[in-house]
Amino acid sequence: MSAKNRLSQLAQRTVEQPISYLMREALARPELISLAAGFVDQASLPVESTHDALEHLLSQPAQGRAALQYSTTMGDPLLREILLSRLVSADQSTACKQSIEQVIVTAGSNELLYLIGLTLFDPGDIVFCAAPTYFVYLGALQSFGVRTVGLEVDTEGVVPQALTFAMEKYLTEGLGSRIKAIYLTTYFDNPSSITTSSNRRSELVEIVKRWNQKHDMMYIIEDAAYRDLRYYGDDIPSLLAADEDGDTVIHTSSFSKSFSPGLRVGWGVLPPELVHPISSQQGNINFGSPHFSQQAMIAILQQGSFEKHVEKIRMEYRKKLQAMLQAAEMHLGDLQNVSWLPATGGLYVWMCVAGIDTGADGPLFRRALDMGVLYVPGCHCFPKEGEPIQHDMIRLSFGVQSVERIEQGMHCLAKAVHEVLDKQPQTLPAEA
Ligand SMILES: Cc1ncc(COP(=O)(O)O)c(C=O)c1O
Repeated sequence: MSAKNRLSQLAQRTVEQPISYLMREALARPELISLAAGFVDQASLPVESTHDALEHLLSQPAQGRAALQYSTTMGDPLLREILLSRLVSADQSTACKQSIEQVIVTAGSNELLYLIGLTLFDPGDIVFCAAPTYFVYLGALQSFGVRTVGLEVDTEGVVPQALTFAMEKYLTEGLGSRIKAIYLTTYFDNPSSITTSSNRRSELVEIVKRWNQKHDMMYIIEDAAYRDLRYYGDDIPSLLAADEDGDTVIHTSSFSKSFSPGLRVGWGVLPPELVHPISSQQGNINFGSPHFSQQAMIAILQQGSFEKHVEKIRMEYRKKLQAMLQAAEMHLGDLQNVSWLPATGGLYVWMCVAGIDTGADGPLFRRALDMGVLYVPGCHCFPKEGEPIQHDMIRLSFGVQSVERIEQGMHCLAKAVHEVLDKQPQTLPAEA
């Protein structure tokens, strides 16, 4: 019997994350300028404020010992209270529809997304996603045996007609009851940087609620991981705020991008009927996310360090985003084949190199590596079904590198693009 046969069905369905080979490239060649990883800016990670918070936490032995103990599975009640009141005020809600019983703290929001999957999905279930979407979650959904269906997006987010069309299609095929959720990153999507507009938010919630009146319950998973990373314009209320009865939207969020991914503090707000099922899954895994990190986060929030840090990184990232967009304009602006979406927040620029296969086996990826720059091939960000996979997209991240390295990296990328366009007949894989 081969080792593979001894694995569970779930393990057999699980494949290595596509980013792993990119990480290996980056590690093997430290001189590479990686515009691939979605890591946060190393230089501005909040060492001092975390130090102050920990000093405060450990200054009184009893408090320190409590922080070093287990907590409740759903998370520290004070942290959950702070999180909910921050969300209500960010959403400009007059009344709070949710109770702190519905707030859960997890080890990063990825854990919560996984717990949601464990709780809701069986093999053969259908989850709609934006095309493109966060590829790490596509991997998790594949492990659950879920059919991921990509929906068309425009600059305001997922196109409502695309959602209705997909619902009708699967209903006609007798698969209406297999539709379990739509997963949306509503602020500065990874990779497209698109923020779902206010009108779209209500439209999408309305469509799902209408569906739920007639069919089996489906949820909207709202991933708000990048909400705090806004560099232009005003914040807008979450999808959760548009869910009048509070039974449709599962909201997930995180301090990873806005403060520190190393602390691993993610959180979410669950519809009441999912509180027990999801917390039971979390109980199976770790009896609750690390209590010490939760206590550190409380101190960080109470000392006002979080707000100050977000202010600071918004300025840093704005400069980096500008540097990336200006370099793109300067070195690639003359090419008709190349275009990109105007990002106003988040960590990514989503670029199209029309007609060129940007995949790891295509000409651009290798040439870019030779030139010293790494990007994420866009094809990894597309669900398996629905909207066709686009093979001529690239995800560029401006989070990690300095302004100078971003400019250098973009220059290298542009040289590679120019060379490939000059040399090569513009061909794409057959299905593109
Ligand atoms: C869209 C999106 N959601 C969720 C996460 C998970 O982040 P974390 O688990 O660190 O909160 C990420 C990380 O890159 C992301 O890009």
